[in-house]
Amino acid sequence: MMKKTVLVIGGGGREHAIVSALGRSPQVGKIYCAPGNAGIAQEAECVPLKDTDVEGLRAFALEKRVDLTVVGPEAALAAGVADAFRAAGLKIFGHTAAATRIESSKEFAKHLMQRYGIPTADYRSFSDYEAALSYVLARPFPAVLKYDGLAAGKGVVIAADADEARAALKDMLLDGSFGKGKVVVEDFLTGPEFSFMCFVDGKRVYPMPLAQDHKRAFDGDKGPNTGGMGAYTGLPFITEEDREFAFREILCRAADAMCSEGCPLSGVLYGGLMKTPQGIKVIEFNARFGDPETEVVLPLLESDAYEIFSAVAAGAETAGPRWREAVTLGVVLASKGYPGAYEKGFPISGLENVRAHVCHMGTAVREGRLVTAGGRVLMVVAEGADIAAARDKVYAEIAGIDCPNLFYRNDIAYQALEMADN
Ligand code: AMP
Ligand code: GLY
Repeated sequence: MMKKTVLVIGGGGREHAIVSALGRSPQVGKIYCAPGNAGIAQEAECVPLKDTDVEGLRAFALEKRVDLTVVGPEAALAAGVADAFRAAGLKIFGHTAAATRIESSKEFAKHLMQRYGIPTADYRSFSDYEAALSYVLARPFPAVLKYDGLAAGKGVVIAADADEARAALKDMLLDGSFGKGKVVVEDFLTGPEFSFMCFVDGKRVYPMPLAQDHKRAFDGDKGPNTGGMGAYTGLPFITEEDREFAFREILCRAADAMCSEGCPLSGVLYGGLMKTPQGIKVIEFNARFGDPETEVVLPLLESDAYEIFSAVAAGAETAGPRWREAVTLGVVLASKGYPGAYEKGFPISGLENVRAHVCHMGTAVREGRLVTAGGRVLMVVAEGADIAAARDKVYAEIAGIDCPNLFYRNDIAYQALEMADN
């Protein structure tokens, strides 16, 4: 059998996990990753192309006769990388730019949910500052304000009072910090959040294990929102009935809705969900694998990753992925200061002795030494018979990593562990 050549687009922890999963496939020969990072470079050949350099990526894939391309970041999808590859006859796992609007436009997503009866917070959208402000001031606080467009996870403000709301709306609608756009104002919901990712090919939807991310920077869910500081699988607060409801009424319904709208999905649909007292509701949809959820979910994939990605990309029938019955937990090590300003270039040592999986999120090699090169730097992932076992293992291994400029949360999976104690 001719081994397959694959290209993974992106260069974070999520892409490291995708590269590792593809590397376990007996069908895969060569793996390229653009742009990759220092950890990915140990498992794939890194190519210095930006994830949004659509033309450069397409030319590279044609030249290297890449059999399958897998896209990590939403920016690449929103830039039309999947459209361009398909137009050139290349097989690619990832949605068209039109389908990516389910993530890139909050208004598109909210409208879709309303139209197809997918449970989510009630909302209104505004492009005028005064109109938005008077609407918000007439409602109870906290107010949830979402910038309508890709804002790298920084487009959501939960304003506690009128002053915070005024400042956020000014930022989003008057100062143009994110570009010209609209703001969605929605009801404030409460309850535990979880991430439900599915492989989607048109109307075919294949669920992945549920995961929970930890978005705030510090212990006890304090501090600013980040891209995610840790994640785990095996959520005790989501029943089988909850999962079934979310699968049918949210993920499958959204996949059908996108077909009806003429922009079928082909890749990953990520439901950022909340279990509220009024039932499970959508906080957001993403059109891609979650980061850091992917780093804890893909290690559980028992099926051949190439086969699954390839079938979804080709629109072919598949038996669907099989998953192992274990629990995984991962903790992110981030640069001090993240998600605000931080410095790079600090040496990292001790990784060779870590007996857990280490996904590189933002690393580079300078003068032969591994150094920090991003806000989120590493994620240490372990598997266990239960969450407490996986947690103990991860924190024990992190203690062996030496880098003066990293910090991490000490309480990943606290909601699940509190439940287990009671
Ligand atoms: P998003 O980028 O849409 O996932 O929002 C970031 C975070 O803001 C979410 O993970 C939630 O914790 C919070 N959030 C977003 N929308 C709401 C809402 N309607 N009610 C309460 N919290 C929300
Ligand atoms: N972990 C949240 C995200 O990937 O958007």
